[in-house]
Amino acid sequence: MDGNGRWAKARGLPHVAGHRKGADAVRATVRAARELGLPYLTLFAFSSENWRRPADEVRDLMSLLKLYLRREIADLHRNGIRVRFIGDRNGLSGDICALMEQAEETTRSNAALTLIIALNYGGQGEIVRAARRLATEVAAGRLDPSDIDEAAVSRHLDLPDVPAPDLLIRTSGEQRLSNFLLWQAAYSELVFDDTLWPDFGLEQLQQAVEIFGQRERRFGGRSG
Ligand code: IPE
Ligand code: MG
Repeated sequence: MDGNGRWAKARGLPHVAGHRKGADAVRATVRAARELGLPYLTLFAFSSENWRRPADEVRDLMSLLKLYLRREIADLHRNGIRVRFIGDRNGLSGDICALMEQAEETTRSNAALTLIIALNYGGQGEIVRAARRLATEVAAGRLDPSDIDEAAVSRHLDLPDVPAPDLLIRTSGEQRLSNFLLWQAAYSELVFDDTLWPDFGLEQLQQAVEIFGQRERRFGGRSG
């Protein structure tokens, strides 16, 4: 979800106004994903590198996050949406962790759409966590190092039961992964959209899904 700052700047507004409008785009996009019948939507809300931003912006982002979790969970639940999180929870404040757990608990049995929010998330960090979990099992004598393969690493990621994304969308014209789902994106189709995140919604999601539908996926094999 990139482009909040540029959206605000273009209007002579403070950066935080872009983040606020970005939260509206989250609502619109979650609704759109549900309408399109997507089973999973993962949103990169705050990266493990976003702590490098000015302290007041980090504070703004954290309070917007809290506001979102407080205000939206009931609505998400009513719409049959399951909420889950990826990222390193150590390093997030206690009140945010409590809201995250509450959201997970409340929506646990919902099956319409799984909304995954990446918070204090980095793909490299997630792979490091998986490596630690594997090492712990090896040290405990429960796992033989020669049994560590791609499937074993996948089983130790933050949400092992969630499949790798078919489609990965980056907004605001930037063309890089910025440490998002590095392991899982191995064969994801990448779509780069110039739309600034606050302007993103049903139309843009639909268009990305359409582009995805035109791609030929070979997964390293060949078509003919
Ligand atoms: C989204 O927009 C950022 C986060 C969700 C942390 P940016 O704040 O990166 O916006 P630009 O790149 O300055 O336009
Ligand atoms: Mg940015």
